[in-house]
Amino acid sequence: MNALTGGEATPNLLTMFADVDSSSTSTRAEMFRVRGLTKTYGTSEAEVHALAGVDLDLYEGELVVLLGPSGSGKTTLLNNLGGLDVPTSGELRYRDMDLTSADEDFLTRYRRESVGFIFQFYNLIPSLTALENVALITEIARDPMPAEEALELVNLGERLDHFPAQLSGGEQQRVAIARAIAKRPEVLLCDEPTGALDVRTGIVVLDAIERVNRELGTLTVIITHNAIMADMADRVIHFSDGRVHHERRNSKRAPVSALNW
Ligand SMILES: Nc1ncnc2c1ncn2[C@@H]1O[C@H](COP(=O)(O)OP(=O)(O)OP(=O)(O)O)[C@@H](O)[C@H]1O
Ligand SMILES: [Mg+2]
Repeated sequence: MNALTGGEATPNLLTMFADVDSSSTSTRAEMFRVRGLTKTYGTSEAEVHALAGVDLDLYEGELVVLLGPSGSGKTTLLNNLGGLDVPTSGELRYRDMDLTSADEDFLTRYRRESVGFIFQFYNLIPSLTALENVALITEIARDPMPAEEALELVNLGERLDHFPAQLSGGEQQRVAIARAIAKRPEVLLCDEPTGALDVRTGIVVLDAIERVNRELGTLTVIITHNAIMADMADRVIHFSDGRVHHERRNSKRAPVSALNW
């Protein structure tokens, strides 16, 4: 049999992932493999096909921007990638793990150890300082960075003892970013992280996310409605009607400061 066509010669997935991980080539390892993924909410007449056959690969260290109309399934996809929700059918692998058949204990561990989430609203604890909000997570993580270091990475080294009410929206979102990345997750999933911010503040927040991606090498996916953000990405995925409509790879990432708002 021709090696290119694979067939019975295809090695098992575990071996393939192990090979990719240990290679020192510049080829990025595949982190997520998504094939024919569906998610259906409701039953019979009330059925909603939020995901209708998603095919997508995501690679180590990439910065991916996910664009698409409201209701096209972006949040549903992100929640499935992050183990907050489980698909109805299809293939969803994270490294050598099958997330479709994972039980709740496994998903909890996966979310805690491997995934950082950033949402439109920051969900900080009002009675805790910036430092304490981040330390809450670092105290239970396996190999965290010091909470101060996480806050310095998002340029909040001077605001450690401020409470959320004493911080601007952009600063609060940066605390949320520090909290998400302090445990050194392999994946950072951001659902409209600048959705509640004005343009100038949004730029500072995106800058912090970009820096985390660059300095920690965290695979980063950002959902947005703002097509201008596409230029900061390695890859832009356009979503529509519950699937990938098309995608584009940028030959070069534009610095956040150079985006034309
Ligand atoms: N828990 C749920 N129960 C029922 N339907 C849902 C649920 N979550 C999402 N949906 C439906 O699935 C579809 C996709 O929703 P999703 O939130 O993924 O869209 P989105 O692309 O993130 O939209 P937006 O840009 O407005 O945030 C929508 O039609 C939505 O109403
Ligand atoms: Mg959404």
